[in-house]
Amino acid sequence: MYHKELTDFPKDFLWGSASAAYQVEGAYQQDGKGKSVWDDFVKLPGKTFKGSNGEVAVDHYHRYKEDVALMAEQGLKTYRFSIAWSRILPEGRGEINQKGLDFYSNLIDELLRYGIEPMVTIYHWDLPQNLQDLYGGWESREIIKDFTDYAKILFDNFSDRMKYWVSINEQNVFIMHGYMLASHPPAVNDPKRMYAANHIVNLANASVTKLFKEGNYQGMIGPSFAYAPAYALDCLPENVIATENVNDSFAYFWMDIYRYGRYPKVAFRALEKAGIAPIIEEGDMALLAHSTPDFMGVNYYQSMTVAANPLDGVSMSGEANYSGEKGKTKEQGMPGMYKMVANPHLETTNWDWTIDPTGLRVCLRRISSRYDLPIIITENGLGDFDTLEENNEVHDENRIAYLNNHCLAVQEAISDGVEVLGYCTWSFTDLLSWLNGYQKRYGFVYIDRNEVEEKELTRYKKASFYWYQNVINSNGQTL
Ligand code: NOJ
Repeated sequence: MYHKELTDFPKDFLWGSASAAYQVEGAYQQDGKGKSVWDDFVKLPGKTFKGSNGEVAVDHYHRYKEDVALMAEQGLKTYRFSIAWSRILPEGRGEINQKGLDFYSNLIDELLRYGIEPMVTIYHWDLPQNLQDLYGGWESREIIKDFTDYAKILFDNFSDRMKYWVSINEQNVFIMHGYMLASHPPAVNDPKRMYAANHIVNLANASVTKLFKEGNYQGMIGPSFAYAPAYALDCLPENVIATENVNDSFAYFWMDIYRYGRYPKVAFRALEKAGIAPIIEEGDMALLAHSTPDFMGVNYYQSMTVAANPLDGVSMSGEANYSGEKGKTKEQGMPGMYKMVANPHLETTNWDWTIDPTGLRVCLRRISSRYDLPIIITENGLGDFDTLEENNEVHDENRIAYLNNHCLAVQEAISDGVEVLGYCTWSFTDLLSWLNGYQKRYGFVYIDRNEVEEKELTRYKKASFYWYQNVINSNGQTL
């Protein structure tokens, strides 16, 4: 019944790559930029690997022309990057910082000069610190207006030159890490506060999406969601229910809101029973229901395998596996609800992330069937130790194998009938991997952080750079 023959990638398929402001830009206090919540958080002892931070990052702020030239050499069709809210509005609201607008305007022009389509993420976790101090950031409804005003500045300044907007990156991740696992700012561990803040993020996302659509700006807007589809460990019915719990509570709980403006009933009931459901005010559901995105963005890295979890079983932990050693990640879960277990059929990366290209096909098919929206794969990639070898070569064969198999899975999904508009690898250059510092590398371009003292930060093309160049040139024929 399902295709064995592969369909070609569409002619205008957006082969791309991605980054985020805090992870690449550096220049964290330059040209009028205000502080973001990450600037102080990274200074708290033990929060990030060896206290690494994004103050210099890979200095993309000063080297964007060099980076864009490399993108052009590789043949990228699109580059996804985020805008730092506090570069545009140092206080998160009020006065606009013209130099911040200029930086992104120049970056967009530079991309367009080479025929690379800019794809802008409006929010990739770097909330202006002032809004956190002023009213508690995402915990206050005041942020809905501030976020919408900020997005309007971007639409008004840039939307005549570009088409693709990602509203909010991985809401599920920053909310869970920020308010339940306490491993991202504001480092809270309180599920009730988490679901309350999450509801406000939903409203802010909806408000910006609605503004974009009603403002008749050209192009498309959608969220980027971190989707790790859940598989049952086996057909033991208790394990299947645990898997339903995960799919409902950790995937559909967000995507149903984006697409239909409703929370899945079973997941919402579970929150009500636990006394942690968000308070829904008059007008909220109407706003959520009238802000359908134009596409679903999906960040896919791995699938997860799930089993039943006794009431006194394993629970969540915010600990990071900094070591890059396999087998370091402990089982995690929510007692009574589910636990994550190793998939006996699949290998893992050096950070214990399951390698599962078919999981990407599963994701794409589920999203397409349930939401009937075009999809952009806004991130997919392999974090690994890479080493600069003789002749400045980097032999990242693991990454090539990972990406090649995932691209094939995309082609299979397209052949199944899924509408996929584009595919962005994470990431173009090596960059700051939040908690894991610079040791976990994702890029096509190697950047030697040992040289940071001398401010060299030389760029070296890895083997995967040339592999992707061929994929793009042949529109996927070389996969
Ligand atoms: C998701 C995030 O959007 C990105 O910022 C992060 O570095 C990658 N995944 C890898 O973890």
